[in-house]
Amino acid sequence: MNDKSEQGSRKKTRRVATKVVTAGREPAANHGFVNPPVYHASTVLYPSAADFRARRARYQYGRRGTPTTEALETALQELEGPQCAGVVLVPSGLAAISVALLSVVQTGDHVLVTDSAYEPTRKLCQQILTRYGVTTTYYDPRIGGAIAALMQPNTRAVYLESPGSLTFEMQDTAAIAKAAHAKGACVLMDNTWATPLYFRPLDHGVDLAIQAGTKYIGGHADVMLGTVAANAATAAALKNLVWLMGLCEGPDDVYLGLRGLRTLAVRLDRHYASGLAVARWLEARPEVLRVLHPALPSHPDHAIWKRDFTGACGLFSIVLKPAPKEAVDAFLDELELFGIGASWGGFESLAVPFDCAHIRTATRWAPGGPTVRFHIGLEAVEDLIADLERGFAALAAAS
Ligand SMILES: Cc1ncc(COP(=O)(O)O)c(C=O)c1O
Repeated sequence: MNDKSEQGSRKKTRRVATKVVTAGREPAANHGFVNPPVYHASTVLYPSAADFRARRARYQYGRRGTPTTEALETALQELEGPQCAGVVLVPSGLAAISVALLSVVQTGDHVLVTDSAYEPTRKLCQQILTRYGVTTTYYDPRIGGAIAALMQPNTRAVYLESPGSLTFEMQDTAAIAKAAHAKGACVLMDNTWATPLYFRPLDHGVDLAIQAGTKYIGGHADVMLGTVAANAATAAALKNLVWLMGLCEGPDDVYLGLRGLRTLAVRLDRHYASGLAVARWLEARPEVLRVLHPALPSHPDHAIWKRDFTGACGLFSIVLKPAPKEAVDAFLDELELFGIGASWGGFESLAVPFDCAHIRTATRWAPGGPTVRFHIGLEAVEDLIADLERGFAALAAAS
């Protein structure tokens, strides 16, 4: 083996914690600096009229990519695994969902969407896809291979979010993908919860893997970013759509994504450990009916999580024993370390009340008590637990 191929095979066997540090980096191309510069760019100048006519240039136009965007795309492509043929960067996680769906459907098509999907995904189907003659059926996230029975002759896409980011049902991705592919449909998955570090969707039959990079890739609650990783069957159409819709992520935000990515493995390990520790503590509390965390053996889909995933992030929910809304609000308002806010994946802990009974159409959501979603951040677990203890005292006082 020559030096280059030895290097190539060493690269392939590297662990993911190494890849998040090394992937997409090219110090030699950047005067030796560890990180690429942030290219603020629109126009690219061509050396001659002939070059311009032939668009002969490594980079052609700001919107079509710069060394900064390329660094993040390349890094994510490596993390998504060998099935990944390309990655696009868009201005938010929701934009990633919309471009992924729009890149595969056309008028007259039908899509199957998990009933556990992030609510704006449903709104996109209801308010935008319908305008272009695309219909949607929602399905039970736990359907597995039985999704075959819901496939229609015009079903073009099956959309998964596993686990559901409020209710945490796990999906049998491989079984659903097999049934979808058997009928010629593509498979899309919102994989923001696991990130490619804990689950690589494309290895399990998914064609388009979506990330709200706003969450863990950014990791510091200071950036909006969406990414879609596509396999060979879907990459060209996805890239073309993103290009023709004129979508591009601003250079500073791309850089924040790249910067966040470098520490993703250590941050996630901590979110995983702390999240599980707090989830276990909550499970033993008398005020709590159930903890919805797929890595807990008590979770109904724990076996799927254990089979497919290598870790868990800091996001999970609890069902409280019946209590008045005012008492739940007193609990949340008492918390000092848990902010009341929606966008998880940052370094900080969060807690929000939710109720998705009115959203669901394929399954009934009747958990038996008020529900709260937590994001466990990077604070000390002991402090978070002390905070929650104070919250429970406030809940009792207001009940
Ligand atoms: C599971 C999931 N997917 C996608 C999104 C959308 O991401 P963004 O806020 O970057 O648009 C969110 C945001 O909360 C989410 O929770």
